[in-house]
Amino acid sequence: MSVKLTRQDEFAVITLDRQEALNALSAAVLRDLAQAFDQVAVSDARALIITGAGAKAFCAGADIKELTGRSLSEQRRDAAFGQAVLARLDDLPMFSVAAINGYAFGGGMELALACTFRIAVATAKLGLPEIKLGLIPGYGGTQRLPRTVGEARALEMIMSGRTLDAEEALRIGLVHRVVDADPLAAAIGFARGISGFGLPALRLARDAVKRALDVPLHEGLKIEADLNTLAFQTEDATEGMNAFMEKRKPRFQDR
Ligand code: CAA
Repeated sequence: MSVKLTRQDEFAVITLDRQEALNALSAAVLRDLAQAFDQVAVSDARALIITGAGAKAFCAGADIKELTGRSLSEQRRDAAFGQAVLARLDDLPMFSVAAINGYAFGGGMELALACTFRIAVATAKLGLPEIKLGLIPGYGGTQRLPRTVGEARALEMIMSGRTLDAEEALRIGLVHRVVDADPLAAAIGFARGISGFGLPALRLARDAVKRALDVPLHEGLKIEADLNTLAFQTEDATEGMNAFMEKRKPRFQDR
């Protein structure tokens, strides 16, 4: 099995483990990934961390050996499937963190972009090099990259196929943190800084921000008011505000 689902304390950890192909996303890996996401969705994990096995690669993208010789309809089906699998990350009840331990190229970069947060080791290399294959990204890169780093930077990255090092990725907001070693431990530490808050409020915050980028401002503000009112009705909100008044730490119950 090249997709391993394990548990580290309160976190689910998915490890892509196909090191002979730099953890590339074959059709079988994508199917296994979808299954793992389904399992995580119904678990009590407070966050999902995704990483790659070995020191070399997070994921080197779609499996280029499988791409060659495909018909147009097969390619269309594959792009739609890959997009749908990565989009499941948005629907998970918990947030996700990509622990980028090496190369994150093409579909691998797109997998990281579909996660809520990204932590990279200092030696990581990132990019969308599809143009060098005569292609363009197909698992959401043309849509999520501009939403993450802005249109100008996204166009330059996608049209040049240029490789970024971790420091540049940090500077342009493509990754949230760069660490010298052990990106998995760093991702877990990062997740722990967030996962103690109530899951309903965390989910509403994710939804509000995601939807901000799809609608005009006046509609986004209405969405925010609605989701803010939903958060206000949770027991966690009552607890959080009472705890503030009583000068004590809140005990959130995810309700
Ligand atoms: N698909 C299939 N196999 C891959 C692969 C991929 N994306 N990336 C690497 N591999 C395989 C290599 O073919 C090689 O296997 P063999 O030993 O059997 O030949 C093995 O992994 C090791 O790779 P390299 O020898 O190339 O390792 P390297 O250290 O010299 O180079 C690299 C590393 C720069 C990441 C290089 O492997 C590379 O450029 N890989 C392709 C990256 C890429 O173009 N990704 C985009 C794919 S298309 C896509 O993802 C479309 C989309 O939007 C979904």
